[in-house]
Amino acid sequence: MNQPVMAGIAPVNPPAFVQHRKLIDWVAEIAALTTPDRIVWCDGSQEEYDRLCAQMVAAGTMKKLNPAKRPNSYLAQSDPSDVARVEDRTFICSEKQEDAGPTNHWMPPTEMRATLNGLFAGCMRGRTMYVVPFSMGPLGSPIAHIGVELSDSPYVAVNMRIMTRMGKAVFDVLGADGDFVPCVHSVGAPLEAGQKDVPWPCNATKYIVHYPETREIWSFGSGYGGNALLGKKCFALRIASTMGRDQGWLAEHMLILGVESPQGDKRYVAAAFPSACGKTNFAMLIPPQSLAGWKVTTIGDDIAWIKPDADGRLVAINPEAGYFGVAPGTNARTNANCMASLAENVIFTNVALTDDGDVWWEGMSKEPPAHLIDWQGKDWTPQIAAETGRKAAHPNARFTVAATQNPVLDPAWDDPRGVPISAFIFGGRRSTTVPLVTEARDWVEGVYMAATMGSETTAAAAGQQGVVRRDPFAMLPFIGYNMSDYIAHWLSIGQRLAQSGATPPKIFCVNWFRTDADGKFIWPGFGDNMRVLKWMLDRIAGCGGGEENVFGVTPRHADLPWDGLDFVPALYDQITAIDRAAWEAELKLHDELFDKLGQRLPVEMLAVKRALEGRLQS
Ligand code: OXD
Ligand code: MN
Repeated sequence: MNQPVMAGIAPVNPPAFVQHRKLIDWVAEIAALTTPDRIVWCDGSQEEYDRLCAQMVAAGTMKKLNPAKRPNSYLAQSDPSDVARVEDRTFICSEKQEDAGPTNHWMPPTEMRATLNGLFAGCMRGRTMYVVPFSMGPLGSPIAHIGVELSDSPYVAVNMRIMTRMGKAVFDVLGADGDFVPCVHSVGAPLEAGQKDVPWPCNATKYIVHYPETREIWSFGSGYGGNALLGKKCFALRIASTMGRDQGWLAEHMLILGVESPQGDKRYVAAAFPSACGKTNFAMLIPPQSLAGWKVTTIGDDIAWIKPDADGRLVAINPEAGYFGVAPGTNARTNANCMASLAENVIFTNVALTDDGDVWWEGMSKEPPAHLIDWQGKDWTPQIAAETGRKAAHPNARFTVAATQNPVLDPAWDDPRGVPISAFIFGGRRSTTVPLVTEARDWVEGVYMAATMGSETTAAAAGQQGVVRRDPFAMLPFIGYNMSDYIAHWLSIGQRLAQSGATPPKIFCVNWFRTDADGKFIWPGFGDNMRVLKWMLDRIAGCGGGEENVFGVTPRHADLPWDGLDFVPALYDQITAIDRAAWEAELKLHDELFDKLGQRLPVEMLAVKRALEGRLQS
């Protein structure tokens, strides 16, 4: 660790293992702008992690949990104004507005740079600037890329150590002139001499900014999740999606899981769902007893980078090294593997604290504890909750945990070559209209399904919840360029697969979330999603039954395995029926999306739509 300095200008003091002149100059340049009191080059060691956590405990940012209950774990409580991704403050500042497209917020880069220069000037005063080197993906993998985040938040530094391959080894891969994505982050709360810090510094003004042409990220004002851990949504999705467009690969909001049959056949599938729609649960699925012998293993739970290999096949890595998952609703029934992962070495954020120094969140147990300290530090009892509706944990409360703690981590999760993908699954949260599962008849129809996906909004983003919005590919808040061009890019990947003679992955659309007249979920979900997954694998193997309908191919009741689940055909009809009026209304919403996307929308999408309309009419 570098020594604090007295003179007010922090020396850059790179350690001997940093040999990259451009990186050192950039750190000096950002330090001159933001004027931190000191600069710390993170080495990613356990000692460093423990020291920063202890420092945050002393500062009141985190509490150490009872080591007898939750060894080496911490609880951070954020400012109540800083609890989710701020999509309305997220900008794609491409040179031309049409390259950001109609679904992104845009400002001319020169104007944005002027605004940010003003905000970042002196913004780290009184604080430490951490230099956080990280690799998205296995170190040195041809699919991986490197970033360096400069942040004045120790909470960011320790979370990045869990979420990415962070530390000294990254400098070795970077060498003297390797490429990296520069990421600048500040909580935007400079401290004057003698000013006491608050437990969770942040700023009411927030900017999450991406410059796709120069591949830079600047984030100001928030210390929370995807706003601040810049390797995740900002780099691995928004910037990486533009790199993928330019270089012929895909950066997607997808989990990757391995699934092995009782006969030992192994496949990998990637699945896109909007935020807080059960990706972590699906990635760690435990098959029901009656399908014993099937095994699901996790490569990743949130993001996939997918590139064609030398044989033209699509292979994928998880660029992350940890899970930043939604805690509420997670329990031994919904995700026993996740609960096991959370036994120790976890950073929890905005969950509740029990009287014996452990954590609790809504849905963790049937009976809530008699007394808790809620995520805002206030007393909470079931009675207070009944009277006021106040939640013990924030609905977007999170855990940060290393992937290596997952008991069903796939042996290939860290393989630099990636794993071959056999299918893409797209799923939204829809209480009506969209059936349990549909297989696209071809790549273009699959792209249409993904492009027109709708989903009810969740607490992962600030704003109103439960409203259906179009969320193409579950990427609405994460595409770093024009969405029409992104759809065209998916079509071109399909064409390239066809040209190379590789079998393209099948594309499926799912919906676990249809509800009955009382608003209750009809489909049991969780482990029982294995039944749908098995059908997909049968289809991939060419042996699954199904029937063609208006939108694609769907299984009949008899085509899914039902052993151990009493799910009668009448119930099945409720989650698979295609209601013509609902679909006519749905197609109008597709029109609205296409109108919004405008001129650059690939004509193939309109052709698929016309075919769907024709089939619906007849
Ligand atoms: C996430 C999100 O944190 O999608 O993964 O919001
Ligand atoms: Mn996500």
